Amino acid sequence: MDTVIQSLPNLWPSQLLPRPWAEQAFPLNRSDLELTYLGRNAVWRAVRQLGLAGAEVIAPAYHHGVEIAALLAAGARVRFARVDAAMRLDLEHLEAQIGPETRALYVIHYAGFPQPMAPLQELARRRGLLLIEDCALALFSQDGSVPLGSRGDAAIFCFYKTVPVAHGGALLLNAWPKPPPLPKPRPPPLLSTLSHLAGSVLFSLELGLGAPGRAARNAIKSVTRDFRQRANAVDVPVGTQEFDPEAVDLGMSSLTEQVLRAAEAQEIIRRRRANWLFLHQRLGEPGRSPWEELPAGVCPLFYAIRVNDKDQALATLRARGVDAVDFWRFGHPSAELERFPEVDALRRQIVELPCHQDLGTEQLERVVHAAREVITSH
Ligand SMILES: Cc1ncc(COP(=O)(O)O)c(C=O)c1O
Repeated sequence: MDTVIQSLPNLWPSQLLPRPWAEQAFPLNRSDLELTYLGRNAVWRAVRQLGLAGAEVIAPAYHHGVEIAALLAAGARVRFARVDAAMRLDLEHLEAQIGPETRALYVIHYAGFPQPMAPLQELARRRGLLLIEDCALALFSQDGSVPLGSRGDAAIFCFYKTVPVAHGGALLLNAWPKPPPLPKPRPPPLLSTLSHLAGSVLFSLELGLGAPGRAARNAIKSVTRDFRQRANAVDVPVGTQEFDPEAVDLGMSSLTEQVLRAAEAQEIIRRRRANWLFLHQRLGEPGRSPWEELPAGVCPLFYAIRVNDKDQALATLRARGVDAVDFWRFGHPSAELERFPEVDALRRQIVELPCHQDLGTEQLERVVHAAREVITSH
């Protein structure tokens, strides 16, 4: 059987060897970037550092859920603004939500596609509000030539969705004067990082070698059971929907930082754009993707398609060996979906297809083939 086409890029053993740092792209080229264990920790820190505890923040009704949990855990109150069927924030609705207690606007750039930053900056300035850019899905992405995350008073990032690292988020504070710093994040448990890395490397063994790699992976897993049990005991999970206050002060491990800083951002951007365009040319139909084109500068996180029956579509794609993702079916429970019918539809319909840098033509053809089956049958 063909190996499964993963939704995230995988860590290859060569990427663990000491390598010189690549040219650091934004935001890694900023010396004031604070590296955290996860993006959610950066959201929490942004609220605390910008003094937003007790204040109201307006956030989009279309969200992951954990960023809202982090805002609330840090002490902010959240009101929701409308997002339309093309995943654009409705600025009129957003402005109508602003009340006397509102202190900040929280904007999410979906899958690398920018929200309209110029009018958002103008709105924030006019109403005396702070602007926070959530770039968890938009690492290395630009609005034309302006990096996403460079214009808000604060920006948060998540690395493991774009680069093959075991964990990693970051906070960038552009607000001036700089608010007083919080205590530096502490390193995460080494065993937890090692076990995430080992899992990823073993998986790439299987991807690279097929059946012999799978056998080697199983053999290595059986002799390292003891290590894995100890690692499980200190594991700090990645990619959950829950905000864990116990992990809020964790930073990035130096091993993860090394892998991250050695990643070739320009090559990642080039490949992701080419792969997105390949899928769009082969699958694009009016209304099927929320985005009609790939604007200059965008580093796409995935290719989104709308389907009528998500469960069935996901089952078909997975049966064809494509690890398609059920994108954001559930948000934070405090956002009432009855008020946001377009968001409700996005949650019911959007499936995420991979377009990451590890995929070559053969795998993309498999994605197209499986996705076509979904499109024609549902
Ligand atoms: C929009 C958005 N913001 C923030 C986060 C939090 O990122 P992390 O998983 O690194 O905590 C996520 C996670 O998926 C997200 O989708």
